[in-house]
Amino acid sequence: MSRTAWRSKILHFNGDPAHSNDPDTVMAYNDGVLVVEDGHILALDTPEALTDMTRDIEVQHLPDSLIIPGFVDAHVHYPQVDIIGGYGEHLLDWLERYAFPAEIGLMNDKGKAEDTASFFLDELLRNGTTSALVFATVYAHTVDALFGEALKRNMRLISGKVMMDAHAPDALMDTAQSSYEDSKALIEKWRGKGRLGYAVTPRFALTSSEEQLNFAGLLLAENPDVLLHTHLCENKKEIERAAELFPTARDYVDVYKRAGLLTDRSVFAHCVHLSDDERADLAKAKSAIAFCPTSNLFLGSGLFDLETAGQAGITVGLGSDVGAGTSLSSFASMSEGYKVTQMREQTLSPLHAFYMATLGGARALHIDGHVGNFAPGKEADFLVLDLAATPLMKRRLGRANTFEEMLFALMILADDRAVRRTYVAGELAHDRDE
Ligand code: GUN
Ligand code: ZN
Repeated sequence: MSRTAWRSKILHFNGDPAHSNDPDTVMAYNDGVLVVEDGHILALDTPEALTDMTRDIEVQHLPDSLIIPGFVDAHVHYPQVDIIGGYGEHLLDWLERYAFPAEIGLMNDKGKAEDTASFFLDELLRNGTTSALVFATVYAHTVDALFGEALKRNMRLISGKVMMDAHAPDALMDTAQSSYEDSKALIEKWRGKGRLGYAVTPRFALTSSEEQLNFAGLLLAENPDVLLHTHLCENKKEIERAAELFPTARDYVDVYKRAGLLTDRSVFAHCVHLSDDERADLAKAKSAIAFCPTSNLFLGSGLFDLETAGQAGITVGLGSDVGAGTSLSSFASMSEGYKVTQMREQTLSPLHAFYMATLGGARALHIDGHVGNFAPGKEADFLVLDLAATPLMKRRLGRANTFEEMLFALMILADDRAVRRTYVAGELAHDRDE
């Protein structure tokens, strides 16, 4: 048995601080000890309470640090790391000009897919993201490449083959039947491997036939362990086009609902322009939303209504949505998320933001039984954050009078420089100072 312990400021959540008054919802220690054994959380408490448990081991003392669970990116596209920061377009033109060519660039190129996946995962770890729900491309080998690299790093990661059989470049299209067969083969190939999970991934309503969406629904019905991952109501022109393509559907949500895609294991990216009926349908189905603020601002898609989603009881995680998103750092998503709520006369407290970036995202991805907080028995995916990573952070955070003030300044000012170490299942996976 290998036991290790860290002493530092520590923060994690047992529930959603925006919607719970339970005193155990937020667990914040000014001086706490986290004990890990064989890659799992053994205990978290004050140093005094854990003296017996830590008697025979060396406790790593990190006084200028904050330990939190690893970040969960609830929506990101790995092939798009190469086109992040593409100038001048809104969603539909941006897809044509930047996203589709980048994805076509991985066609028949196993080596390039592996290189891109490897770079992407190293960047996630450098930014403190230990779990993610990831779009690959329509090509099955790009899923193999990502899963292979994630397996090497022992990451809890979910991905799937993009299904798209309509209104896209020829090189990027499958067929309804082949998308079903290829997805099924990938599910069987990767099921039970390491900490990986599969998501059935129709790109969005605009690039799938009704037949393909029905096949996606069949895959979900046949495989209760997989997620559904797609885009929904991101952009006004996209919504108009969905109405033209599916004239008998009540609305965009109904396009997915009719195909059996509205489930409690479904994650919908964006949801910026939901109607009340659509939101109510998502809530009733217990589907989750990935809020992607840096992307929504970058593409000018709109301002997500976080408050109303929360009131409806919908689980919301934070997505970077790179390459439409502008950063792989969850700090950027928290910071831009706050600004989106400001523009809507709403708010995003630091506790709510850190919850969404950790346990909230894990709940959205149905991996909260394994990760997302420091409950005993969970897998030890966690971060050591440097609260003095830059001169400005040192000065500003040093003047914070409360834990929450410190967290808020952290989420506004921090980036990858603040991630001193990333641990995956108790093992050091990134060390900034190496
Ligand atoms: N909708 C369909 N595909 C995409 C994509 O690649 N990025 C974003 N932001 N929205 C999409
Ligand atoms: Zn996306």
